[in-house]
Amino acid sequence: MTPSTLLERPAPAVRAAPADPVPPAADALPTPPRTAAAARTSAPPLVSVVLPTRHEADTIGGFLARTLRALEGIPAEVVVVDDSDRDDTPGVLLRLREELGLEDVLVVRHRPAGSVPERTLGTAVVEGIRAARGEYVCVLDGDGQHPPEAIPALLAAARRTGADYVGASRYLPGGSAAGLDGPLRKAVSRGLGLVARAAFAGTPVRRLTDPLSGFFLFRRDLVAGVDLRPVGWKISLEVLVRGGARRPAEVPYAFAPRAGGDSKATVAQGLLVLRHVLTLLLGLAGVRRGLCFGAVGASGVAVNTGTLLALAALGFDGLSWPLWLASELAILWNYHLHRRFTWRDRPGGSWWAYHLVAGLAALVAIAVTTGLAQPAHAPLWLASLGGIAIGAAVNFVLSDAVVFGRLARRRAGPTPQPAPAAASEPELAGLTA
Ligand code: GDD
Ligand code: MN
Repeated sequence: MTPSTLLERPAPAVRAAPADPVPPAADALPTPPRTAAAARTSAPPLVSVVLPTRHEADTIGGFLARTLRALEGIPAEVVVVDDSDRDDTPGVLLRLREELGLEDVLVVRHRPAGSVPERTLGTAVVEGIRAARGEYVCVLDGDGQHPPEAIPALLAAARRTGADYVGASRYLPGGSAAGLDGPLRKAVSRGLGLVARAAFAGTPVRRLTDPLSGFFLFRRDLVAGVDLRPVGWKISLEVLVRGGARRPAEVPYAFAPRAGGDSKATVAQGLLVLRHVLTLLLGLAGVRRGLCFGAVGASGVAVNTGTLLALAALGFDGLSWPLWLASELAILWNYHLHRRFTWRDRPGGSWWAYHLVAGLAALVAIAVTTGLAQPAHAPLWLASLGGIAIGAAVNFVLSDAVVFGRLARRRAGPTPQPAPAAASEPELAGLTA
């Protein structure tokens, strides 16, 4: 067979797996290499199932059998990324791979201590996604708490509705979170889900009942060239927000109690979710721009006041020109910083346009302050703050739309697009087929 015919070979559809194979005793077989990939010469499968595992040796054999049975008839591959130190989870998998002839279907990656900078559930899932070749990727826990029997329903929902992300939800009618350990864990899960929905209210995440689910399926092209940088465990958020999912859907499922082993979840993991949400929020262009705008504006106020004080110290007091000079300097200062930071991705904003906008915003601020401070209205400090807030909003909106907006970009020519990140096929060195 020539290499090209090898390449054309269709992905094998998964055969029925035997009922829960009992993993052979650890000492019965020589330890095979602990990392192995399928002979990746077949056509990409329809779906890659990514399973993160750590210390699941007792149950992983049965779980793999369940997964293979659920995938029967679907062109699929299973990618396990394992970080076990204390048990032989990868050894169990590799023996089954050999015994059951799963070379074309099962990829096992074991990451010994020190082999990667950070061994966590999050980095394992990202590594699995990067190794996946399927049109769709389905991520679920490898401990049996996520039922693999639901994978075909997720896939069917994606194909039927054209959804780019399908989450398995505990909180849809028909789903259940009963397997979550204790009322506290349930409340935290619910609460963090609400935080995520509120934080990304402007995105389709808002429509999901379980945006932090560890069980989800998505079109792999959603994350092509996207830098997934997990903070903690919630890779669903990375895929939804950084991948920019536009058509998400959900399917209910019941989160099962753990059959063996222990949960690795901690309070610190829960707190990491909040940090993750914040990191993603700041990464969204609008928020970053807003924060930059605020910081630059505050520095402009310092320039303005500083200039006035300096001129007063030099004896130029009570004149209108120091006021004018101080504002001109502040506008110039803000303009350069906005170019450099706030709208750094939109070259071409002109100084005179910004000057006009800043002048207009100042007039609005004065008008609003005056209006608010009329007798029987707000106290002066509040009126002044209100004027500044509305003036700043006018400045931001007009700068964004006009000064650094479409008009400016047309003058400056097409915006240079960042070169797409080289889609490097994950390093497969050292893998045995
Ligand atoms: N590779 C790798 N590395 N896998 C890990 C690690 C790690 O450091 N830590 C945990 N895992 C694997 C476990 O072996 C299991 O298959 C899966 O990730 C989930 O870990 P658990 O420790 O069982 O977490 P949980 O059940 O308490 O919480 C899970 O389910 C929740 C409900 O969907 C997680 O997926 C949560 O993110 C999720 O909210
Ligand atoms: Mn679990």
